Amino acid sequence: MVQLFKLPYDRVSPKDKDSFAYTTLVKRWPTILTGVINTVTNINHELHSSSSPDAQAQIEEGKQIVAKISAMKHEMGRNTPLPLIEDDGEGNVQCYNEEIETFPEEERGWSKVNWLFAECYVYRRLRSFFAVTQHWKIFDPFFQSKADTYRSSSGAIIHLAKALNAMVEQKDLLDRSDEPGSPLEIAFMEMIQADLWGNATDLSLLVDLKYEDLQKLQAVGAAAQAEQAKLILRNDLDKAWAHIKSLKNGRVDIVMDNAGFELYTDFIFADFLISCTPFVSEIVFHGKAIPWFVSDVLPYDFTWAIDSLLDRDFFASASTPPTAEDTENLVTLASRWKSHLASGKFRLSVPTDTPLGLAQTDSLGGFWTTQYAYQDLPEAAPQVLAELQKADLVVFKGDLNYRKLIGDAWWPTTTPFDEALGPLAGKITLLSLRTNKADTIAGLAEGIAERLDKEDASWRVSGKYAVVSFSSRK
Ligand code: F6P
Ligand code: MG
Repeated sequence: MVQLFKLPYDRVSPKDKDSFAYTTLVKRWPTILTGVINTVTNINHELHSSSSPDAQAQIEEGKQIVAKISAMKHEMGRNTPLPLIEDDGEGNVQCYNEEIETFPEEERGWSKVNWLFAECYVYRRLRSFFAVTQHWKIFDPFFQSKADTYRSSSGAIIHLAKALNAMVEQKDLLDRSDEPGSPLEIAFMEMIQADLWGNATDLSLLVDLKYEDLQKLQAVGAAAQAEQAKLILRNDLDKAWAHIKSLKNGRVDIVMDNAGFELYTDFIFADFLISCTPFVSEIVFHGKAIPWFVSDVLPYDFTWAIDSLLDRDFFASASTPPTAEDTENLVTLASRWKSHLASGKFRLSVPTDTPLGLAQTDSLGGFWTTQYAYQDLPEAAPQVLAELQKADLVVFKGDLNYRKLIGDAWWPTTTPFDEALGPLAGKITLLSLRTNKADTIAGLAEGIAERLDKEDASWRVSGKYAVVSFSSRK
């Protein structure tokens, strides 16, 4: 059994009724689970008029899934102890169940266990309801919502496609101009900030957010980004740029977060590094093995996002449909990404046709859907660490990755980021790009948290603010 890093501070827990964790337990998880019930029920309705010989069996399995999700919602409401995850034949059952058994009996209730564990458990257990079926085994209940949000982001998608294609065309201007304030540096800052704010597009937060709000968060263009930069509470982008400039034919790994628009901005940033700079020649993308925190990237989402850009009809029904010229820009962009995939300049860490669910804990496909904080990565998944150490830089995207980097604990906000990384500090060179959507935070300068507590009570969780945190390999 993995010896977990001993945190000097408590983990965030729904026990604290003022925490976002508590709101999540009483409001957000039930809403998300009800959405999954509706999705399965709607498909079951359609199956009633299907002539497929398997329809009846699939309907029955669908009903069982709905019953299990309803039971889990009921448990949450009544705060009963977390049951062990059933052995569904897939990876990562043991790691969850072993940890549950370490919690004292009276501390196993939904509002008693720490938030990071409980939330990862929700998605792993949800997966088990589908994994044990025959007809729903490869079904992703969140796919449609990911696809709809991607389509509704067409305005920002087109803007970024034009901006990057123009840069790639003027590549000679950008090449080798690596002095401070150079066009290349300005372009880097624009592309990486698009990738940072792409994280604001998080479907699990859409419980509280409208599409219009979301479009405002997709900051693109220099003016919007200058405005947004004021909201970055700790900003290590200069350090990241200095490191990237020191590379030659480097490898950058991206531990991805959300599908759709955020994934698109990951590709934009990755393509910028490959096509416009002499510093990086390989990008390795790491995704999830099972449907995760609603919007995270699965192998299927990864290739689907590129194929949709090549489908000239995909954005036709969007609120900002592309012009003929825009469509050409999207096709040029996506064709370049296809060729990066074919040449190995872009690579998913597992085969792109990997089916949902099969991965084991200490594997590239499996580790990211365990409950482990990344402080425990060296102990829990040494093979994954060894693979990440082949990279010159590992970029961790998004809020959950940030929570896992610092163990989702109540660190004093001025704790140095390296200290909060615990045993992971110094093992890899990493950059975390996170918009703030959860209570935990570290690495801030004196006085920032106190000022924001007075000015904007929701600053830790609203997604309006961000932190960019860099740490070097020693
Ligand atoms: O449910 C809460 C949460 O874990 C928050 O941390 C965050 O709002 C979201 O889910 C996941 O965010 P991200 O997609 O940025 O990791
Ligand atoms: Mg996510």
